[in-house]
Amino acid sequence: MTELLHEPKPTPLALLLLGQGADPDSERGVECPGALPPASDPDLVDRAARARAALGDRAFILGHHYQRNEVIQFADVTGDSFKLAQQAAANPQAEFIVFCGVHFMAESADILTASHQQVVLPDLAAGCSMADMADIAQVESCWASLEQAGIADVTVPITYMNSTAAIKAFTGRHGGAICTSSNARQSLQWALEQGQKVLFLPDQHLGRNTAVRDLGLGLADCVVYDPRRPLGGLTEAELQRATMILWKGHCSVHGRFSPGNVDDVRRRVPGVQVIVHPECQYEVVEKADVVGSTERIIATIAQAPAGSSWAVGTELNLVRRLAQDHPDQTIVYLDDTVCFCSTMNRIDLPHLVWALESLAAGNVVNRIQVDADTAHWARIALDRMLSLPGPAAKAD
Ligand code: 13P
Ligand code: SF4
Repeated sequence: MTELLHEPKPTPLALLLLGQGADPDSERGVECPGALPPASDPDLVDRAARARAALGDRAFILGHHYQRNEVIQFADVTGDSFKLAQQAAANPQAEFIVFCGVHFMAESADILTASHQQVVLPDLAAGCSMADMADIAQVESCWASLEQAGIADVTVPITYMNSTAAIKAFTGRHGGAICTSSNARQSLQWALEQGQKVLFLPDQHLGRNTAVRDLGLGLADCVVYDPRRPLGGLTEAELQRATMILWKGHCSVHGRFSPGNVDDVRRRVPGVQVIVHPECQYEVVEKADVVGSTERIIATIAQAPAGSSWAVGTELNLVRRLAQDHPDQTIVYLDDTVCFCSTMNRIDLPHLVWALESLAAGNVVNRIQVDADTAHWARIALDRMLSLPGPAAKAD
């Protein structure tokens, strides 16, 4: 029987009201320039369907797995960030790419699409708290620290997709590549063939998990660079000794899962298998049975036999959808205090209706556009990733 044993407690952080307010500390905007339909409008689904039909092949809608069902039902393709980047690049016929995901994904889509295509993010407030943990000035200053320690020449930057276009461009300029949670192993392996050390931005957990679990490095080969402290809070000798220099960033959703959650669920649900996203802490990933991107989590559960039990450590919209899609399995959430990704959830039906109706009326709203120089260098880093061998499956 399908059951979600534990629903999350509501987030203590109030969301900004739809289309209002400002967040000056973020890479993203907040204001919605148009009149959103009220969320209570009973015709929202029909309005979205009509606008979608009116746009036809002129629009292609991409939906990340963390999006709400009310939005996912209108996606032409759903996927993890790797698959969505590929799909953005693979659909040159569409004049508009409507990205139901977060800001950094829409930026990457703009970089990977042709100049006649326009990328639209239905709510500009859909950012990523992890991407906000690294800004380009901090990253430039970190590189200066590596130069000071005499190691910049042998260091290759590997930047997680969850980052600003400016940091992706920095990565391209310095001979590095982008990675996603699907292909971090391949990107890291490639980087260590190019140089002796890796600067991994901005998710310390994905960097550590990949280096230690997939590539056989030791925890002692990793140091954490804190951008708020001189020399990252490290000595020159520590930087010189390390193979992996991990940026002190994390996902505010996945970072909350704890090793205790894994122990608890194993006690509560007999025979449960634990599957988690690699943005979780190393100690959590070590206790899990399977580790993988959102796409991999979905595929693993889809292939599991009826009667299987899973505790899933990733965002709640996806876990709920998995439970709905697999009524013959028991799918539970790994921890009841972890909640939705609040920024992913900014994209809702009113914003989607507003964006689609605006496009259908000839008004391009919330266009995400990366400047030409940034896009040029970021594309080099993205293309290095896309040219590596595809994501490989790896069970624990
Ligand atoms: P995926 O690459 O697995 O889609 O993850 C993106 C993300 O933002 C996870 O938090
Ligand atoms: Fe960013 Fe975490 Fe949300 Fe993914 S789940 S978009 S990493 S805050």
